[in-house]
Amino acid sequence: MSVPRRFLTSDKGTFGAFTAEERWPIICQNAVDDIKTEVEELKKAGATQEVISEGLVLEKELAELREEILKNTELRAFTEEEIKIANVPGSFNEYLKESSAINRSWANAEWLFAEVYLYRRINVLFMSKKAEYWQKFDIFDRLKQATFKSSLYGVVELAHRYKNLREQLKTLDVNKESDLEILQILFKEFIEVSLWGNATDLSLLTNITLEDIKSIQGAKAREESEAKIVVNDTDKAWESLLNSTKQSKRVDFVLDNSGFELYADLMLAAFLIESKLASKCIFHAKDMPYMVSDVMLKDYDALVKDLEDREFFPVAVGSEDDSSLNLFASELSNFVKNGSLELRTDSFWTTHLDYWAIDPSETKYHGAEIHKDLMNSDLVIFKGDLNYRKLAGDRQWPRTTDWDVAIGPLAHNGVVSLSLRTCKADVQVALPDGLDEKLCKEWEKDHPGQGSWWCSSGKWAVICFSSGN
Ligand code: F6P
Ligand code: MG
Repeated sequence: MSVPRRFLTSDKGTFGAFTAEERWPIICQNAVDDIKTEVEELKKAGATQEVISEGLVLEKELAELREEILKNTELRAFTEEEIKIANVPGSFNEYLKESSAINRSWANAEWLFAEVYLYRRINVLFMSKKAEYWQKFDIFDRLKQATFKSSLYGVVELAHRYKNLREQLKTLDVNKESDLEILQILFKEFIEVSLWGNATDLSLLTNITLEDIKSIQGAKAREESEAKIVVNDTDKAWESLLNSTKQSKRVDFVLDNSGFELYADLMLAAFLIESKLASKCIFHAKDMPYMVSDVMLKDYDALVKDLEDREFFPVAVGSEDDSSLNLFASELSNFVKNGSLELRTDSFWTTHLDYWAIDPSETKYHGAEIHKDLMNSDLVIFKGDLNYRKLAGDRQWPRTTDWDVAIGPLAHNGVVSLSLRTCKADVQVALPDGLDEKLCKEWEKDHPGQGSWWCSSGKWAVICFSSGN
C-alpha cells in the first residue's frame, strides 16, 4: 500500500482545519490573557522594571502571533539568532526549506508540522527575553495547575484505590500461576485509568466545568466508557510483558499531559512496580511548554508537592483522604529515590518529526538514539492523541489500515509499543470493517455534516499494541 499524504490545515471539514482556524487563535488569546494577569501580579509583588517591561513585550508578541494565524501569513523560518538563543532544532528550518515549493501558511500547511511549529514559536518568544524569569516561565502553568486542582474528586478516588490495592498486592505473587488472573484484571484496570486520564486535555477542554471533570475521571465513568474503547489490544500487551524473559523488566511512558493524566500514568507505573510486573518505569517528558498541557520535568515535581499540600487539595488533615494522598506522594518519592521511577527529557519529543523517525536510520535529531534506548524497554507506552498522530504519521490512512502498517518502521524495528489514546484528531486506523461508517452515522445525528469527527471528539478511545517484530 502506498503511504498517503499527511493531513493539511486546508483540508476542508476536518478537525485539523477547525483547529488552525478556531482553536489556535483561542490558545494564543489565552496566553495573552495569562501574561496580562502575570504582569499585574508581578507589579504588585514589586518585580524589577526589566521583568515587567519584558512581560509587556511578550503580551504584544503573543497577540501578534495570534494575528499571524488569523491573517494566515507564511510560516517563516527561524532566524539564526532565535536558533541560538532558544536552541531550536535544525529540523524546523530544514523542513521549511524542503517544503518551500508548496504553499505553507498557517491555514495551508501540514497540520502536524504547523502545530508543533506554533509551540516552538511561542517558546522562542520567551527564550529571547533577557530575564531568566521569562526564560523559565511556563505560559500554560496557571491552567495546568488550576485544572489539576479541580480534579480533587478523581485524585482522591484513585488515591484510595491505590491504598487498598497496595494491601491486596502484598498477597499476590507474579510468579504464581493462580495469582496471574487477578493481576491481569488489575493490569486492565490501570491501563484504563491511564487511558481515560488522557480525556482531561487542556487544549480541548477550554470551557470545562467541575462537573465535566468529575464525570470523566471517576471509576463509574471508566466502567461506562469501556464500550467506547473501539480497538483494545490490552491482552496482547499483557501477554507480551508477561512473556518477556528478562529478569528485571522496564516499562517506558512517552508522556502526554500533566495534572490528572500524569497522576493516572503514575498510578499505572506504581501498580506495575508494586506488583513486580516491572522493576523500573521511565517517564519521557517534554523539554519546553508544549501543546498547552504536556508534561515537563518540573510538572512532576509540582504534582508531588500538590498531593501533599492541603491548601491545594483541601481535605481534612488526618482524614482517610489525607492519608491516601500522602501515601501516594511518599510512594512516588520512594520510587524515585530507589531508582524504580525515572524521569527524562529529550529534544526529540518536541521536534516536528513523527515516530517513523524512531529508527536507526534517523541520525540527525536523536531518532536513532531514542530507538536504541527504547529497544531496552519491555513495553513503551505512548500516551495520548498527539503521540498517536505521530505514530501514524498523521496521514490520511483508510480507517481500516492495519496498525503495523500505519506506524511504519516502528512495527518492525524491535520496539514493543502500546498506544493509549482518547481519539481527538482526524487520523484513525486499525478499525474493524464497518465500524467507522457506523460511528460516523451515530455522530452525524447530533452533529450534522460532521459525522467523521466522532474520532476528534475525545469520546472514544483506542489501545493499540505492536510487538515490534
Ligand atoms: O490540537 C491538536 C491536538 O494534537 C489534537 O490532536 C488533540 O486534541 C490535542 O491537540 C492534544 O491532545 P493530547 O494531549 O491527547 O495529545
Ligand atoms: Mg497533550
